[in-house]
Amino acid sequence: PRNIFFSRHGESVYNLEGKIGGDSKLSPRGRKYALALPELIKANLGDQPLTVWTSTLKRTIETAKHLQYPKLQWKALDELDAGVCDGMTYEEIEAKYPEDYFNRDEDKFNYRYRGGESYRDVVYRLEPVIMELERQQNILIIGHQAILRCIYGYFQKLSQDDLPYVKIPLHTVIKLTPKAYTCQEERYKIDI
Ligand code: F6P
Repeated sequence: PRNIFFSRHGESVYNLEGKIGGDSKLSPRGRKYALALPELIKANLGDQPLTVWTSTLKRTIETAKHLQYPKLQWKALDELDAGVCDGMTYEEIEAKYPEDYFNRDEDKFNYRYRGGESYRDVVYRLEPVIMELERQQNILIIGHQAILRCIYGYFQKLSQDDLPYVKIPLHTVIKLTPKAYTCQEERYKIDI
């Protein structure tokens, strides 16, 4: 049966600084994750074919660097656009845009950043990616937190209220195997 693997990119410089969005590179720890990833995938898949999908942002491309499989970059997989808040920490956002900060908490799925996107927007923009995923065999997506929440939410049939809060930790590969109604799920953490 076919499998959908996905992982967030390795820890980035922005992750360390608590900043959202941007296009930063991997931290030294993130680079170690990228180095460890091929072995984990190989242990799971053996010699089965796989295609790796990334976003167009440096941190996902760098994470996929050592994987010896065909690769495809999707602009539609780029992280949720935080608009004017891009590059800020949550504390900075709360101080500068307190109302927005409150509104996002009230309805995280529908909240749209000024000049940016909401989770709902991302769900729409991911439609072609999901359609293609349904047609493909084994795929590994190296993505971003909000994006992977939406893809995960689609396959596991999460409600709009739950989807923006699913835990998609760093340095963890999630494997979904589609079954009749939902997917069988396994998680593999790499401790580094
Ligand atoms: O902090 C990493 C990150 O991927 C940000 O780039 C993004 O804005 C955020 O997570 C999404 O998570 P949340 O919707 O919980 O803020």
